[in-house]
Formats: sequence, structure tokens, C-alpha cells
Amino acid sequence: MQEPEVLCRIHPVAASALTIMRRKETAPPEFARQLHRLSVLLATEATCAVKTHDVEIQTPMSSYTGKALQGVHALVPIMRAGAGMLDAFRLMLPDAVIWHVSVARDEETLRPIFKDSKVPKSTTGIDTCFVLDPMLATGGSACFTIKHLKERGAGPIVYVGVIGCPQGIERLQDEHPDVRIVLGDIDAILNKRGYIISGLGDAGDRLNPTVPWNVQ
Ligand code: PRP
Ligand code: URA
Repeated sequence: MQEPEVLCRIHPVAASALTIMRRKETAPPEFARQLHRLSVLLATEATCAVKTHDVEIQTPMSSYTGKALQGVHALVPIMRAGAGMLDAFRLMLPDAVIWHVSVARDEETLRPIFKDSKVPKSTTGIDTCFVLDPMLATGGSACFTIKHLKERGAGPIVYVGVIGCPQGIERLQDEHPDVRIVLGDIDAILNKRGYIISGLGDAGDRLNPTVPWNVQ
């Protein structure tokens, strides 16, 4: 069983980015910017065990033995909100393959409804899969996506989220004890409607407004 690594407890920039995201007045463009900023830090932490190999190069002054990233990794954003974390991970892992998974939560039952997947039938040759989704609430969307990846042979898997709550974390640890969990923060409460408190509200809507939000 892997205990979650929680970035806001140790990193002031992460804590400040998440506070701006949490604020209800924060408009979608700023929300997206802060999600990217926080995701750069999450990606730095999440990729800390990625393998490298030695490369011989010439600097302008001398020869030098440096490092290059080894292997091909997969980035798996859960639509829609996970898309806001993708650019930061591409910055860290430019050669990664990208497998979008679309899962929508049924707002009545809170169960995940599968919509679409770009995960190939065979995942041979891929090193680590990074599952990206800001909110780990009931854990249904994360567990569904990870099960889907495992059914296609993927692993090892790292789950990266912005905010988790005890219920979602326990479910993820229970169903997938092998998955490493990296979170921005952990909030205490999941309310009856399946929202994390204090949380961010609906992360997908805050990132991707579907109606004008700035009309005077
Ligand atoms: C949100 C969030 C997660 C899910 C978390 O997505 O981005 O995917 O809810 O909840 P869970 O842990 O209870 O499954 P949502 O289904 O609202 O879709 P959206 O990103 O399109 O808004
Ligand atoms: N999905 C969200 O976007 N926010 C929550 O608080 C829970 C699920």
C-alpha cells in the first residue's frame, strides 16, 4: 500500500498556486494558469523515479558524461479536467505517448460512465503511465481508468491529482495498492453530492467554461 505524497505540505509555491485555484473569484484563465503552475511541481515530483542512461556530449569547453531520459512513458489525462495538467507533464516527458480517457461521473449515482478511450489494445514497450486528474473524490473515475489501463497490460502506474479526500484515497489504495499516489493536497470532507470540501468546486467547469463568464 502506497501512502500519498502531498506536495502542498512541503512546497510553498504549490500551496500558493492551489490557494489561488481554490478562491471562488478566480476566473477560468487564471485557474488554468495556476493548474499548469501546480502541475509543473506535481510532474517534477511524479517523475522523480524515471530512469536515465548516460550520454557522452561535448560542451563548448570539454567532453561531458550527462544523462538522457530512458524509456517511453504514457500520459493519461482523464477528460475533461485532466487536460489542464497535460502540458506540464509534456514539458517533463516530451517523448511521452498520450492516451486520453473520457469518463463522466453520473451526478445521481456518482458512478463513472465510460465515454471514450485512446489507450491502445496493447501497451507493450511503455514504461510508467501517469494518470492525470485534478479531483480524487469518490475515487470512481481514477479506479475505473486504472483498471482499464491494467486490462490493456499497462504498468507501473502513478496517479497524480490536485486534491484528494480520505474516501477517494482509501478506495484507490484498496483497489490498486500498487499505484503510487501524488497529490497537491488532501481535504477532509466529501459531501453528499460527491464534492470535496473545501475543494475547488467543479474542476472541469472552472477550467472549461461552457457559458460566458466575463460579460459586463
Ligand atoms: C471530475 C473530476 C474527476 C471526477 C472525480 O470529473 O475531474 O474526473 O469528477 O470524481 P470521482 O473521484 O468521484 O470519480 P467529472 O466527471 O465532473 O467530469 P468533467 O471533468 O468533464 O467535469
Ligand atoms: N469533481 C469535481 O470537479 N470536484 C469535486 O469536488 C468532486 C468531483
